Amino acid sequence: MQLAMINDKIMAMEDVDSAYLDRGLFFGDGVYEVLRSYNGKIFALDDHFTRFANSLKAIEITSVDVADIRSKVLKAFDKAAIANAKIYFHITRGSGVRDHLPKADLKPNFFLTISELKDNPKLKNEGVAVSTYPDIRWKRCDIKSLNLLPNVLAKGDADKKGAWEAVFVNDDGLITEGSSSAFFGIVKGKLRTSPLKANILPSITRKYVELAANNIGLPTAEKSLTPKEAQVADELFLAVTTKDIIPVVKFDGQPIADAKPGKWTKLLIEEFKKFIA
Ligand code: PDD
Repeated sequence: MQLAMINDKIMAMEDVDSAYLDRGLFFGDGVYEVLRSYNGKIFALDDHFTRFANSLKAIEITSVDVADIRSKVLKAFDKAAIANAKIYFHITRGSGVRDHLPKADLKPNFFLTISELKDNPKLKNEGVAVSTYPDIRWKRCDIKSLNLLPNVLAKGDADKKGAWEAVFVNDDGLITEGSSSAFFGIVKGKLRTSPLKANILPSITRKYVELAANNIGLPTAEKSLTPKEAQVADELFLAVTTKDIIPVVKFDGQPIADAKPGKWTKLLIEEFKKFIA
């Protein structure tokens, strides 16, 4: 007979909850967003939904009404009533018998969580360590897809090395981005980060960091750094929605400059606050 087994429990196929048959689980066939609120206001909501719409289009999920997803997110956010919230949501292509070729009439699945974002001033005040990891990802990292296994393995490797984040290095020996963050350096008085064409996620925090840099008269050069350049940079930092800017003070076990958050990084952290206010 056709059957299914979930952990130790055997059951008939018809008794399997459709969540187990989600294409997001079988194939990572879905896209997601992570947003945050500051003091009760969601930050960069439009930016996130523009990127989300681009991700859906890129993987040809066409039956989702993005405006409806937006209203769901806002309704859940109001209900949760968390001032500094992390909002996660994804859309998968839907649930069904495992087949690479999706059935034409699949109904996409929507899933959301809202949780409290705990501030961790130590990260900003002291900075973090990062370690490098080969960028073994696919060629469409511009899509915020659920295909995050390389990111998970990279993060695990960093953790084993006592680092807070992994930084991907591609086959050309260039740093692209963190496993779940954008990567920046300050080199010879310029802000350096990978160009969007370098197979990275169009990070929203990255966009606001560049705006902040412009506001404080720090020129930006969208040119990837090599690990060697990063090692001798004046400053390094990471950028991500949930933590905005995090100074990096150690790179592959070696200190960056005086192993303290750099002056430009601190100025950018201050300037970034103006977007929040
Ligand atoms: N990740 N690069 C990657 C690979 C990411 O996964 C993320 C964010 C970023 C930063 O993007 P943004 O500034 O839009 O948050 C860059 C989210 C937070 C996550 O997967 O949890």
